[in-house]
Amino acid sequence: MGETVRFGVSIGRNLLKRFDELIAEKGYTNRSESIRDLIRDHIVVHEWEAENQETVGTVTLVYDHETRELTHVLTSLQHRYHPVITSALHIHLDEHNCLEVLVIKDRVKRIKEIADKLISVRGVKYGKLTMATSGKELF
Ligand code: NI
Repeated sequence: MGETVRFGVSIGRNLLKRFDELIAEKGYTNRSESIRDLIRDHIVVHEWEAENQETVGTVTLVYDHETRELTHVLTSLQHRYHPVITSALHIHLDEHNCLEVLVIKDRVKRIKEIADKLISVRGVKYGKLTMATSGKELF
């Protein structure tokens, strides 16, 4: 972190009251850290607007491993996109359902393409791409 500066913000009383309630619920002890987090989140959202930006995303998948061909297709995709898919976490949720979290490190455009391919595989019950960040632009 570089030099820390203080700045004043004008804001409506009711809006600030609502904000303070919200951050208290989330466990923040002061406004500054919550505002820093909001700014960082904004930067990450912006990062994901640039197709060529190098970044990191996670894909969460829930599926029944007994669905015909499904496990095979998902494994093939993960091998095809290695080493961009840097790691995979697999949890057996119950007798049938599996949860997988994949970490994908590449340009935004390609992360989205790979995520779409994984999520659209027949038999995937739930699939979601979550934006993460390399952290380089966050201070
Ligand atoms: Ni499993």
